Amino acid sequence: AFTPKNIIVTGGCGFIGSNFVHYVVENHPEVHVTVLDALTYAGSLDNIKGLPEDRVDFVHGNICDAELLDKIVPGHDAIVHYAAESHNDNSIADPEPFLKTNVEGTFRLLESVRKFGIRYHHISTDEVYGDLALDDPARFTESTPYHPSSPYSSTKASSDLLVRAWTRTYGLHTTISNCSNNYGPFQHVEKFIPRQITNILSGIRPKLYGNGLNVRDWIHTDDHSSAVWTILTQGRLGETYLIGADGEKNNLDVLKLILKQMGQPEDAFDHVKDRPGHDRRYAIDSTKLRTELGWKPQHTNFESGLDKTIEWYTNHQEWWEKTKAATEKRYKAQGQ
Ligand code: NAD
Ligand code: DAU
Repeated sequence: AFTPKNIIVTGGCGFIGSNFVHYVVENHPEVHVTVLDALTYAGSLDNIKGLPEDRVDFVHGNICDAELLDKIVPGHDAIVHYAAESHNDNSIADPEPFLKTNVEGTFRLLESVRKFGIRYHHISTDEVYGDLALDDPARFTESTPYHPSSPYSSTKASSDLLVRAWTRTYGLHTTISNCSNNYGPFQHVEKFIPRQITNILSGIRPKLYGNGLNVRDWIHTDDHSSAVWTILTQGRLGETYLIGADGEKNNLDVLKLILKQMGQPEDAFDHVKDRPGHDRRYAIDSTKLRTELGWKPQHTNFESGLDKTIEWYTNHQEWWEKTKAATEKRYKAQGQ
């Protein structure tokens, strides 16, 4: 097994990256983390506030900055790469930052990994596989062909392909994971679950795209973190692992559950304009990760995970209200 002592976490001030930093601090006391984050609209230092200073350093910078990487990468034994432009709707409105960060940024990190010879784990998404029909019993596996639909997912697919090519050509020590939809604390209010919870808390009706029958495969972000740690330390080099927790649900059912848990009538929401090119269904088969590396999700009760997430947003109004008005203004301009 690989036993990292000093890791760089890119995007460690975003939703999933910051949850991973918390996870490492709590579960792996021998590991020091350097967070590299550009603090875009999606990143906040609040997300890693209060973590012990001797365990976590913060570097404010861009993953596209090769000179900065030359300075900070030496002395680390691994990079876990979370930083990305992550939101599909934003990629439809303005794709360019997605090309910069997701494609060029990954290229810069790979070049740095090549130069300094350290281990690299690449965080990716199930969206690289495109979508499945609602009535198709199939799920994505590691051998499903790439077929991305949106500007976001096409840039994530591109970044995965760069990792594979750099691994084969230059012999880099890499692994890739493709995970399904995460939920939990610190998720930006632009995303589906936090948007609806904070809408209700703000007296705004929740907004459902199209008929709401699109299916997403939900996993708690702590389970994503434990899976990434398992792959980083025990995964076979050059391999891809799919991460999922058998959490398929359609958006309408998730929304009704949020409304119910927050004491609202189940029809107290608006149907709004559908997302162009909206993927119908994602579903992950994580057999390889489970059988090869013995990983198992812990937070498999979605209702209770959702309840805790609602409680977190209810108790952290000061965290999300800073970005709420601007986010809703953007959606309103798009008719969503
Ligand atoms: P997020 O948008 O919440 O956070 C992204 C973070 O990256 C922010 O802190 C931002 O400041 C930082 N960042 C953006 N551009 C940067 C740059 N050029 N240089 C340095 N830092 C930069 O994203 P998230 O939802 O936490 O997703 C994290 C990763 O996980 C992404 O790679 C995403 O593709 C992947 N992923 C997300 C999900 C999901 O459900 N959200 C599921 C599977 C995979
Ligand atoms: O599958 C993994 C992906 O999950 C990640 O790669 C992405 O980074 C992450 O953002 C997420 O992508 P989705 O597009 O699935 O997530 P989002 O939260 O934007 O939307 C979830 C579903 O809810 C989707 O079918 C669109 C719908 N939706 C979304 C919003 C914001 C609504 O119905 N209403 C909304 O207001």
